[in-house]
Amino acid sequence: MSEHPDGPTFDSAKYRQVLGHFPTGVTVITAITDGTPVGMAIGSFASLSLDPAQVLFCPAKTSSSWPKIQAAGKFCVNILSEDQEDVSRVFASKADDKFAEIGWRRSGNGSPIIDGVLAYIDCDIAGVLDGGDHDIVVGAVNDLEVRHEGGPLVFFRGGYGRVTF
Ligand SMILES: Cc1cc2nc3c(=O)[nH]c(=O)nc-3n(C[C@H](O)[C@H](O)[C@H](O)COP(=O)(O)O)c2cc1C
Repeated sequence: MSEHPDGPTFDSAKYRQVLGHFPTGVTVITAITDGTPVGMAIGSFASLSLDPAQVLFCPAKTSSSWPKIQAAGKFCVNILSEDQEDVSRVFASKADDKFAEIGWRRSGNGSPIIDGVLAYIDCDIAGVLDGGDHDIVVGAVNDLEVRHEGGPLVFFRGGYGRVTF
């Protein structure tokens, strides 16, 4: 939170409302833990470094999926296409088996690649930093591929949208 003589000038609702004006793509971060696929929808994904190749994402410390991904020590970033709003909703939920209705195959590092994604990025967890009520996870990229040439799913002001180029 920024410093201000009288403290923050906003509440959490305003923080969410203003930050919601920054559009993001939608990814699903997946892993396999104890033979079981796990995944969570993540908008806080970003490219971090080219050399070495590193990406980052920020899971909430309250997430039940993140400790399982951390235990796996590696993960796969699935970049959702514009027709995968339903996939995003499943992986943003707390469903017991998020993969029940999802087609997927194993990536090179063994993590799930979800059918129909635009691209995937296989990573080892290179570091975990403190980010307030979230963690900042740095992933060392060891494989990546474009799977489909389509438009991305976009999240903006609390809703899903599409963009045309
Ligand atoms: C578009 C979108 C982006 C999201 N981005 C994040 C994120 O960056 N970090 C996060 O912790 N949760 C994010 N969430 C919420 C998580 O997907 C959700 O809280 C989580 O999957 C809940 O399940 P879990 O407890 O099994 O992790 C996002 C949800 C949506 C719909």
